[in-house]
Amino acid sequence: MPVYLDHAATTPILPEALAAFTAALGTVGNPSSIHSAGQRAKMLLEDGRAAVAASLDADPVEVVFTSGGTESINLAVKGMFWARQQDRRRPRIVVPGGEHHATVDTVAWLEQHEGAVVDVVPLDAQGRVDLTALEARLADASDVALVTFLWANNEVGTIAPVSRIVELAHAAGVPVHSDAVAAYGQVPVSFAASGLDALSVSAHKIGGPVGIGALVLGRRATVEPLIHGGGQQRQVRSGTQDAPAAAAFGVAASMPHADVRALRDRLVAGVRAAVPTAVLMGDPVDRTPRQAHFTFPG
Ligand SMILES: Cc1ncc(COP(=O)(O)O)c(C=O)c1O
Repeated sequence: MPVYLDHAATTPILPEALAAFTAALGTVGNPSSIHSAGQRAKMLLEDGRAAVAASLDADPVEVVFTSGGTESINLAVKGMFWARQQDRRRPRIVVPGGEHHATVDTVAWLEQHEGAVVDVVPLDAQGRVDLTALEARLADASDVALVTFLWANNEVGTIAPVSRIVELAHAAGVPVHSDAVAAYGQVPVSFAASGLDALSVSAHKIGGPVGIGALVLGRRATVEPLIHGGGQQRQVRSGTQDAPAAAAFGVAASMPHADVRALRDRLVAGVRAAVPTAVLMGDPVDRTPRQAHFTFPG
């Protein structure tokens, strides 16, 4: 029997989410239509939004559905960057090393095409952000458009000091986005408690379908939209909304997630026993339950 272990890349869809998805696919109606078919689709959509919001300790109005983590990150980073150029030129984007490609390639694109200056904050050997360096980068933040960082590193599992990063950025008057794709479903993620301006998540990492994610966007946060059209979702992300995917995402977001720490620790102990020179990467304490990342010298 094949065993699927690569849950960091994508998770199997949960049976409950699959059932909600397939049932909802049979529903006809555009959630923006005012007739009864449209309103039925709207109920599915909004129930999904409410469940996703609850799982992130956010308000449903703050949840903007997207096609996944990559789009959410693009919308947050490009959208905030552009919104912050309107009254004054602010080219700098402050970002730790070791980010996911969705962030790395987005800021590189802004550098090549929009005159952004990417200011990389170093990480230590465990993947922890150097907070002293971050503070120094923000000492004069008059030219900083935004700070963006990974809530949890998707490869080594190190969890960022979220509140401290937000505190430093806000003290400097700079908005903050976090890529919480690898943290979501593994460690508690509270948008309200974090103080973040924006946060990205993806359904397929928590047992939901591929092709839907969310950008949680605080009420005071402003982003320039990437997609223009019918003005859906606070004008931030136009396009007919995907009610079946939202319904399935909501179900996956409501499900309890298995605590796999004991399994991970057993795997780590087994690898260490078999290969004593193996080096476990990432923070030894502040780490996600699902990641066990080794390097094997030689
Ligand atoms: C940390 C992190 N950010 C962003 C993404 C991209 O998300 P999506 O696959 O939903 O576009 C991933 C997916 O691997 C990820 O692990």
